[in-house]
Amino acid sequence: MVPFTKWTSPYITGLFTFSILFIFMFFQNAVIYTFLETSVDSTKGGLCACDKCVTDLNDDDWFFLRFNPTVAPLLNRRNSVLQTDVYRWWKGLQSDSSKTNYTEVVDTLFSLFPDEDHYSDAGPDRCRTCAVVGNSGNLLRSHYGQLIDSHDFVIRINKGPTKGFEKDVGSKTTHRILYPESAVDVDNSTHLVLLPFKIEDMRWLISVFTTRHITSTYIRVRPTVNADRDKVMIIHPAFIKYVYESWLQKHGKYPSTGFITLILALHICDEVNVFGFGAKSDGHWHHYFDGILTHFSRGSHGGDFENKTINELLLIGKIYMHKGWLL
Ligand SMILES: *[C@@H]1O[C@H](CO)[C@@H](O)[C@H](O)[C@H]1NC(C)=O
Ligand SMILES: *[C@@H]1O[C@H](CO)[C@@H](O)[C@H](O)[C@H]1NC(C)=O
Ligand SMILES: *[C@@H]1O[C@H](CO)[C@@H](O)[C@H](O)[C@H]1NC(C)=O
Repeated sequence: MVPFTKWTSPYITGLFTFSILFIFMFFQNAVIYTFLETSVDSTKGGLCACDKCVTDLNDDDWFFLRFNPTVAPLLNRRNSVLQTDVYRWWKGLQSDSSKTNYTEVVDTLFSLFPDEDHYSDAGPDRCRTCAVVGNSGNLLRSHYGQLIDSHDFVIRINKGPTKGFEKDVGSKTTHRILYPESAVDVDNSTHLVLLPFKIEDMRWLISVFTTRHITSTYIRVRPTVNADRDKVMIIHPAFIKYVYESWLQKHGKYPSTGFITLILALHICDEVNVFGFGAKSDGHWHHYFDGILTHFSRGSHGGDFENKTINELLLIGKIYMHKGWLL
């Protein structure tokens, strides 16, 4: 045994020294890499792989006082428990005093629809571009279709159609935000994203994919909708409250669908381009697809404050606005 040890010990010592050296170099490289990466990131400001990221830390206090990345935008079983104040606020939006058991509704929802941590993949390697497409008449004659379709996500709102308007609004829809009263069929490449202003809306979604027995809320609603069940998502009630408090500073009664969608995009995308937002110069909204006019700041939404907030987001470069044709 003794000769063997004598013979191998220089080798072992050599190997040992070499390993130490190797490990040292490896760590040194790791340290240098980390250093490079952070310095590259900080010159670019980038916490994502796009040229400019929503989460760029460009010392903007206004933004980071409002933006809270820990609020989950989309519901799943694990994040579904509502704090008392959230539940009370959310119930306060609802006219009905239904005795629906929220816990049971959530249970049913996620026995039907994907129960996932959606879009928790933000990081230095991700560059997800999003087009948020509103329904404003300023899209008409804009020829934005191709530009809109070039985004990774194309998020549309309520009934806004593409058929017949492809040249101006595009044809791709990855997500459509809707609620029972605004529901339309979506094709099976589109995520139906429910914006639940009330528990009844969640029950309606369940009904649509099962019994189809719910035919009205406060108005008649569609009992059926064509959509891929495996792509259904539900916006978190706590996210709606967060948008209202953090971003709207409690102006109006609750935020509009367009505004919630825009803040949702800030949370799930790295770069946000906005199309089809904005009223006519006389303050009236009109849709690109019908003649219905509504006044911008009327109703429950605190439209002026939404407008101000959107303008601020523009000013600090967190979103880009494609204004189309102002009428
Ligand atoms: C709702 O249902 C859950 C589970 O079935 C039950 O534990 C809970 O007590 C119910 N809550 C109310 C307020 O009825
Ligand atoms: C998607 O929809 C098309 C047309 O509506 C249909 O032919 C196709 O089978 C559907 N695909 C899936 C995976 O459901
Ligand atoms: C929204 O803000 C823009 C820019 O300040 C302004 O030109 C526009 O008139 C506002 N729209 C409404 C409806 O208040």
